Amino acid sequence: MMKATAYANSNMALTKYWGKRDDRLILPYNSSLSVTYDGLGSKTTVEFNKIYDHDFFKLDGKNYSKGEEYDRIVGQLTLVRKLAKITYFARVESINSVAFSSGLASSASGAAALAMASAKAAGLNLSSKEHSILARMGSGSGCRSIYGGFVKWQKGTKKDGSDSFAVQVADENYWPELCLLAVIVKKAVKKVKSRAGMAASVKTSPYYQNWKKEAEVDTKKVEKALLNKDFTTLGEIAEYNCLKMHAVMLSTQPSLIYWQPATIAIMHEVQNMRDDNISAYFTIDAGPQIVILCLRSQLGKICNRIKSLNMCEDIIPLKLGKNAEYLSDHLF
Ligand code: PMV
Repeated sequence: MMKATAYANSNMALTKYWGKRDDRLILPYNSSLSVTYDGLGSKTTVEFNKIYDHDFFKLDGKNYSKGEEYDRIVGQLTLVRKLAKITYFARVESINSVAFSSGLASSASGAAALAMASAKAAGLNLSSKEHSILARMGSGSGCRSIYGGFVKWQKGTKKDGSDSFAVQVADENYWPELCLLAVIVKKAVKKVKSRAGMAASVKTSPYYQNWKKEAEVDTKKVEKALLNKDFTTLGEIAEYNCLKMHAVMLSTQPSLIYWQPATIAIMHEVQNMRDDNISAYFTIDAGPQIVILCLRSQLGKICNRIKSLNMCEDIIPLKLGKNAEYLSDHLF
């Protein structure tokens, strides 16, 4: 039977990917390092079958037959068909974890789950590295969702992208004291998606050239801090890297302002906490939500201070998640 199902968790970058050196192969200008979350992810079933006359795609109960989401799926399936030397069309069904609608997770887990499920359904027996490359071609950050724990996407230098994939730096049990707290400011769909946003930044931000150099160095520094379990350095660099990415976004034309007033209020509160000897740092992707990095012993205090601002819809403590995996219970 040409059917397989996979589950992948989403991830949050501590040093960010923002801009491609190759739009078709999805190759980044700089390396990035992320944390895989537990329980926020995508489950996807793929079946290749000669009875299908085109590719079918259903996400969270809704059918898609055109548009950006659909094209992305067909793009990944086309690659798999080429690799497996098959011509059958596919039926793809995917469900995301409930908390997805909070605007925390991105397309990363979907791309990773689809890469694994479609490869297996097509009869391919790929390595994790090959799954990561395939996921990358669906959504850049997806290449990091193949692994759990702490994951680095090495940018690679080859033109064909064969050296641009993710590797695990440490697994999800490596640093139990490290905590992530997601602060949901506004459950809204973002106006400018990452793909269009980063392409505009590369073209128009006067700071782009500096960003890509700095981001590469930041990734090395964060990896070192992680290996030394040096929380202060890790937090400082992650927060600064996020602010540098947002400086690039703000200076893009037309400008990309992903923050809401509450986002800024929480950024100030995190910095104020540091003045009160609470070790907390923030990171923000292309949206208004904030993830606070902290140590487990201070989690309660930090939650209370954020709650007392009365500016967010939800506060979700996040656990670190494991590698993407195959499941035996299919969605259809
Ligand atoms: O892979 P994409 O297209 O979802 O872009 C991800 C961009 C950021 O989330 C802002 C940064 C990152 O490295 O995840």
